[in-house]
Amino acid sequence: MTNSNRLIIFDTTLRDGEQSPGASMTRDEKVRIARQLERLRVDVIEAGFAAASPGDFEAIRAIASVIKDSTICSLSRANERDIARAAEALMPAPRKRIHTFIATSPLHMQIKLRMQPEQVLEQAKQAIRYARQYTDDIEFSPEDGSRSEEDFLCRVLEAVIAEGATTINFPDTVGYAVPEVFGETIRRLRERIPNSDEAVWSVHCHNDLGLAVANSLAGVTIGGARQIECTINGLGERAGNTALEEVVMAVRTRPDIFKLELGIDTTQIVAASKMVSQITGFAVQPNKAVVGANAFAHASGIHQDGMLKSRETYEIMRAEDVGWAATKIVLGKLSGRNAFKQRLQELGIDLKTEEEVNAAFARFKELADRKSEIFDEDIMALVSDEEHASEGEHYRFVSLAQQSETGKTPTAKVVFTMDGKEHTCEGQGDGPVDATVNAIEKQAASGAELVLFSINAISNGTESQGEVTMRLSRSGRIVNGVGSDPDIVVASAKAYLSGLNKLHSKIERVNPQL
Ligand code: KIV
Ligand code: ZN
Repeated sequence: MTNSNRLIIFDTTLRDGEQSPGASMTRDEKVRIARQLERLRVDVIEAGFAAASPGDFEAIRAIASVIKDSTICSLSRANERDIARAAEALMPAPRKRIHTFIATSPLHMQIKLRMQPEQVLEQAKQAIRYARQYTDDIEFSPEDGSRSEEDFLCRVLEAVIAEGATTINFPDTVGYAVPEVFGETIRRLRERIPNSDEAVWSVHCHNDLGLAVANSLAGVTIGGARQIECTINGLGERAGNTALEEVVMAVRTRPDIFKLELGIDTTQIVAASKMVSQITGFAVQPNKAVVGANAFAHASGIHQDGMLKSRETYEIMRAEDVGWAATKIVLGKLSGRNAFKQRLQELGIDLKTEEEVNAAFARFKELADRKSEIFDEDIMALVSDEEHASEGEHYRFVSLAQQSETGKTPTAKVVFTMDGKEHTCEGQGDGPVDATVNAIEKQAASGAELVLFSINAISNGTESQGEVTMRLSRSGRIVNGVGSDPDIVVASAKAYLSGLNKLHSKIERVNPQL
């Protein structure tokens, strides 16, 4: 099995990616991303961790009901309750996988699990035996694998394969590995374990040392792994996970090295990146490989000259092959409701009721009055705003008047509703955004702490909408508020109110922690 030339892409944006602070998503947001992952043709979508919460269970079930082409997977600890819950959530999926894990490093076994190695071995075996009644597609991960003892790993992995595990995923849970050692470890494990060929070997890397992509690729080239676990934009806790777009484009661009086939439709990469960024509020840095705004911009004169003579002088991938060329003007002021609705469908945005379409169309018209060209990115931001706004809607932005002049203290007057009642508040601050947030807080008195603030241009040019993320923290809960508008101070007010709505919301946003 491991000699196959096919590299399986296992996306865990909706599970491990979602564990980033503030990145938790609603069920509908997860379904939207899952549809885009299906368009991207990922082989396996890890949709969540069913036993973590009722919200995550429902999201997996909803994804399992609508996705037809990708295998749907749920994570579960190595116990019967978690596995049964995963199986139940996955029931509607045409192809399902249960991914069960238990820690195998001395540190995790002693401190976290308080279990002896023999108990861990027994529990791992029992988990696979139990999972087999639900599906033949079972993945096992020895958590903290890269810090586990090799002899013990050999015993555990041989035993779980004998019990029926079909994928062995080797995780670098804490991002401690370095490429050669990581690849060699997998190679030796495969060599030492007598039944290793009965499973597909997989890698799952975290990016704490900036080595997640390099480690994953070494796992493939040196170790012989044939599945990479990754997330869109490298989203994930701490420094994130292996970035899907980077491993896919490395394998695609260097067939001379990797000699592997991929099922991915790379032209869907940029759309997936933008969708994940807009929904989670995690902006993509401009110099990020493949999906950053500058990834294909050749600014220096020497490069431009070379590019004009022949693209290959400085370009190893074509922007259009990863979906950059898809950015085009799609709609304008005169576009009707039907054209708008059709574009929503083409973008995989499935608004359920006619009221939702009407609300989104009204916002589109408002935007088209102020912005002559509307891009796909604008439509996606508009729907994201609408979804954020529909979550409880305790706070709603109405209007903003703001003044700033060199040498004077900026002031802002914000009108917003709180529980349906309109309030007008004024504030001052170091800058226009500070004045705006101070004005809102005078009335809202939320007690929230702003822990991150970022502004990103949605499309090119100064007429672009600004997309603002405000990460708020209160009593240990962290949320990302997102707002967009051609006026970046208005976008900031909307982002702040969206964050307050999330903190206030009773709608469960799942952030499953291991
Ligand atoms: O990082 C990790 O170890 C994980 C496992 C559950 C695979 O996410
Ligand atoms: Zn992980």
